[in-house]
Amino acid sequence: MLPVPPQYPPRGKKSERMNALNKKLILLTLLTVLLFAAGCTTQGQAPQKKLTGLNPGEEDPAVWGKYYPRQYESYLKNKEESKTEFGGSVRESHLDKKPYLRVLFKGYGFGEDYNEERGHFYAVTDVKEIKRITPKSAASCWNCKTPTAPKQIAKEGVSWYKKPFAAVTKDVKHPITCWDCHDPKTMNLRVTRQNMINAFKRQGKDVNASTRKEMRTYVCAQCHNEYYFDKDTKEVINPWDNGLNPRNIVDYYDNKKFSDWKHPQSGTEMLKMQHPEYEMFSGSVHQTSGVACADCHMPYVLEGYNKYSSHWMTSPVKNLDVSCKPCHRQTTQWLKTRIHDIQVRTNETLDIAGEENVRAIRAIQTAADTQGVDTAKLAEARKYHRTGQAYWDWVSAENSMGFHNSTKALHTLSLAINNARQAQVLAAEAAGKPLNPSIVDIPKKQIDQTGEPKQPEDKVKVPKQP
Ligand code: HEC
Ligand code: HEC
Ligand code: HEC
Ligand code: HEC
Repeated sequence: MLPVPPQYPPRGKKSERMNALNKKLILLTLLTVLLFAAGCTTQGQAPQKKLTGLNPGEEDPAVWGKYYPRQYESYLKNKEESKTEFGGSVRESHLDKKPYLRVLFKGYGFGEDYNEERGHFYAVTDVKEIKRITPKSAASCWNCKTPTAPKQIAKEGVSWYKKPFAAVTKDVKHPITCWDCHDPKTMNLRVTRQNMINAFKRQGKDVNASTRKEMRTYVCAQCHNEYYFDKDTKEVINPWDNGLNPRNIVDYYDNKKFSDWKHPQSGTEMLKMQHPEYEMFSGSVHQTSGVACADCHMPYVLEGYNKYSSHWMTSPVKNLDVSCKPCHRQTTQWLKTRIHDIQVRTNETLDIAGEENVRAIRAIQTAADTQGVDTAKLAEARKYHRTGQAYWDWVSAENSMGFHNSTKALHTLSLAINNARQAQVLAAEAAGKPLNPSIVDIPKKQIDQTGEPKQPEDKVKVPKQP
């Protein structure tokens, strides 16, 4: 077992650390003496928080920055744009990188314009510029981009979501800011997004009464999740009532007879997954060991005696030393290789699953064009296509390319491939023809055929076992 998430990762020079430690010891001794002298009985209670002078509605990060300059300075780094092997913060088109996406998303906005996500700083710019936003889009699309959304929802209630997207634009001043995660009075972490507050309420829980450790994940989970818009009210809802696994969520949509669009070639009622980072992370080795989103994406940094959380929320690959090493004793190269290995394998399996779904679409289309087709079997084939593509999308839309939970990612892709295959077989049966060999061809790109993914050279010598 690795050490528990540290509160004070040793950073800086040893002499500095010793000085800091001595200081702390002296303070602690003093405090203990004082407490005993006063007969203090506040054991177990949180220390009284110093209140900030911030206005409860203050959303301008620069104003918060006057009180917390270090956090603000690191928050400004969210403007930075650079790439990593499978992630990063550069607005590149997913459609150009993986052309089969245009087939899978045909007839839907994601087939027209679909980009890699950037830093929080760009949330407002990017949602305004994406071609998926049309005059028909609802205010709901603002929900995870700006504090204006939860503020207006608090004032106007559920009816806000249905407003036209463009009608809200003038009210929007800031992208994701301090206000979204912190109570301006106490600086405590808080969930501001009604979708997550409601999802917990339906389970009889108050998300904002969670432990500090849980909140270090929940403040991110409120936006980095799978959701849908209610067909009538356009309210943002998390489909978590049956659980957080892909199966639970597809079941939830099936029971509601929900679909996002109808695929024009296969005629399937489709599901689009959003960005299920929270759901993917749940149940992972890290999550079940008590590690939070903030541990890797907001690592502690030390400046002199001041320790603070980096508010540059980006790919940890950009700085593995700070993001992983407080807990891991392995070398940076080892960590890098682990991430690379998980991501390369997930990416190849993802492409296989994607291509199988393209084949399912073609097989169903062929069957649908056949005279005297067995319509019951065709309907069944479409059901498998819907499920197969939803599972593929679950991993595709999730932003870590498998890293957050490699077991769940690969398991979900195995379901995606199986469902897409079933769809092909059923479509062929529905048409009364044997499977077209070109449809069942196994994709050429397989890990077995391409050999081991190229590993960055690891110079570490593994010590011999005694
Ligand atoms: C154990 C460390 C760790 C934890 C905990 C963790 N992540 Fe990640 N996250 C990563 C790594 C590694 C990547 C892959 C980055 C890359 O490919 O450049 C990643 C990628 C991401 C990305 C995409 C970044 C990019 O550059 O495109 C997002 C968004 C994200 N994580 C959000 C979250 C959220 C939300 C949580 C909690 C529910 C979480 N992460 C928990 C390590 C972690
Ligand atoms: C996306 C959520 C999020 C946003 C946005 C955010 N913070 Fe934080 N902040 C956190 C988390 C998580 C922690 C760690 C808190 C903990 O462990 O108790 C934190 C910690 C802090 C702390 C406590 C000291 C520390 O560094 O750990 C301060 C002060 C702070 N943030 C200020 C700010 C300011 C100022 C802004 C805006 C410029 C801001 N935060 C924006 C999530 C956020
Ligand atoms: C209010 C909603 C919201 C909250 C809260 C939030 N995010 Fe995000 N996050 C977004 C959006 C939206 C984007 C994409 C912005 C874009 O592409 O313009 C994003 C992008 C990211 C990225 C990609 C940045 C990059 O450099 O590639 C990472 C990593 C990330 N978020 C991590 C986190 C973590 C960790 C937390 C919690 C501490 C968090 N987010 C909280 C909405 C949110
Ligand atoms: C807050 C502590 C913490 C941080 C930060 C952290 N880890 Fe971990 N990591 C753990 C724990 C705990 C385990 C469980 C294994 C154990 O106890 O030996 C683990 C396990 C792993 C495993 C093995 C996973 C498996 O499936 O068996 C890998 C790989 C890993 N971490 C990589 C990373 C990388 C890469 C980063 C940085 C991006 C990182 N970790 C950040 C605590 C952490």
